[in-house]
Amino acid sequence: MSLINAENQGIPLHIINQKNYPTWLQAQPENVAQWLSATAYEGKGLSLIPATDGSIQGVVFATENCGEFFACGDLAKQLPAGQYLLHAEPDNKVAIAFAFLVGAYRFERYKSSGKSLPVLAVADENVVATATKLATATALVRDLINTPAGDMMPQHLSETSAQLAAEFAGEFTEIVGDDLLAENYPTIHAVGRASQHAPRLLDIRWGDKNAPKLTLVGKGVCFDSGGLDVKPAAGMRLMKKDMGGAAHVLGLARMIMAFNLNVNLRVLIPAVENAIAGNAFRPGDVITTRNGLTVEIDNTDAEGRLVLCDALDVALDDEPELIIDFATLTGAMRVALGTELPGFFATKDATAQGITEAGLNNQDPVWRMPLHQPYMSMLHSDIADISNCAAGPFGGAITAALYLQKFLPADVDWCHFDVMAYNIRPLPGRPKGGEAFGIRAVFDYLQARFS
Ligand code: BES
Ligand code: MN
Ligand code: ZN
Repeated sequence: MSLINAENQGIPLHIINQKNYPTWLQAQPENVAQWLSATAYEGKGLSLIPATDGSIQGVVFATENCGEFFACGDLAKQLPAGQYLLHAEPDNKVAIAFAFLVGAYRFERYKSSGKSLPVLAVADENVVATATKLATATALVRDLINTPAGDMMPQHLSETSAQLAAEFAGEFTEIVGDDLLAENYPTIHAVGRASQHAPRLLDIRWGDKNAPKLTLVGKGVCFDSGGLDVKPAAGMRLMKKDMGGAAHVLGLARMIMAFNLNVNLRVLIPAVENAIAGNAFRPGDVITTRNGLTVEIDNTDAEGRLVLCDALDVALDDEPELIIDFATLTGAMRVALGTELPGFFATKDATAQGITEAGLNNQDPVWRMPLHQPYMSMLHSDIADISNCAAGPFGGAITAALYLQKFLPADVDWCHFDVMAYNIRPLPGRPKGGEAFGIRAVFDYLQARFS
């Protein structure tokens, strides 16, 4: 059942800015004013207004800024089942409908809540279509992350990618297992080879071949045990989410395709399980990467940058105008910015500024971090061109980004997002569990840049 439609009927749902409440109240019939006063409603939050027969006559929801993306994020949880017809300022309707939809999200693959949800009617096809596209992409990201690793291995990311490409008439190809060696993707193979589920490089292409080239790269580590430098239990518990970067770029790609952006899109996902077995790669091993640089493995738990460096290298083949990667790359970024603010690195100030502003305008904040070149020396290896991680605990998100940058020419327009991909506490419109961070910001920026 659809949670939103463009019908012009339903219980009136008035969503208003708090400061406009007195004006709104004056225009209401006596019984409504009476109810609100009798229930000590103060022009803040939700009130269900009864009719004389006991049914709901109307609903009012007042909030500080209802044009913000999550201001109405709890509505779907708070309203009883039924159809509600939205009355709000036209400018706010997309944000309200989006918040309603993402707030109604539940991950019900393994158990159903059994609760029936309210339905939002918005008598405007465009609002319904826009909010639905944005929310569907968000739900895709969440579903992929929430699905346990046992049901979300590289082959499952492959199936999802193939379906997404097919839905929008794009092309999907992949390189699987030992073919990764034959085609020269040594790091993707090395990280993924100990798993029962063969490593893959997933590759989606979509759009006008003559349009500006945009390439998205997503870390698809379906489970990160840490490899032989195994993670402690607490650190491993959430590592089904380590394909969060892949989920983010699939969600962002869905937005780009659904809104038909004028780009020649490529999506690259190295999909692996960082598992432990006799054939696992080891601390101290040296791998010759796709571009020829040799990397000494200091810690097998710094696997994300390894799979990404080969994927970034093949991304360069097309000479894209912009490369953006998303990855659950470091715990250090979470120490720096917490779980709810994604950090990103950018080679171009204008791109960084555009994305930062788009984040603020869309309540999808992102924070730029520095590609501080002097820290590059922390990735020194005695026997290889580079080490896969720094020896010390400091600046871990930066050294991870610098490792990636080592594989890119200086003039490439590149952004790297280091995301949590998970809500560890619920917020309005954002239930606990898998979450998309920064993709609406990036999408809004891309829409302005490539329309
Ligand atoms: N997937 C993790 C990073 C991570 C951990 C992201 C927790 C979000 C929450 C990554 O593969 C990893 O293990 N990174 C190590 C790097 C270290 C070995 C240099 C880390 O952050 O501890
Ligand atoms: Mn790891
Ligand atoms: Zn990882």
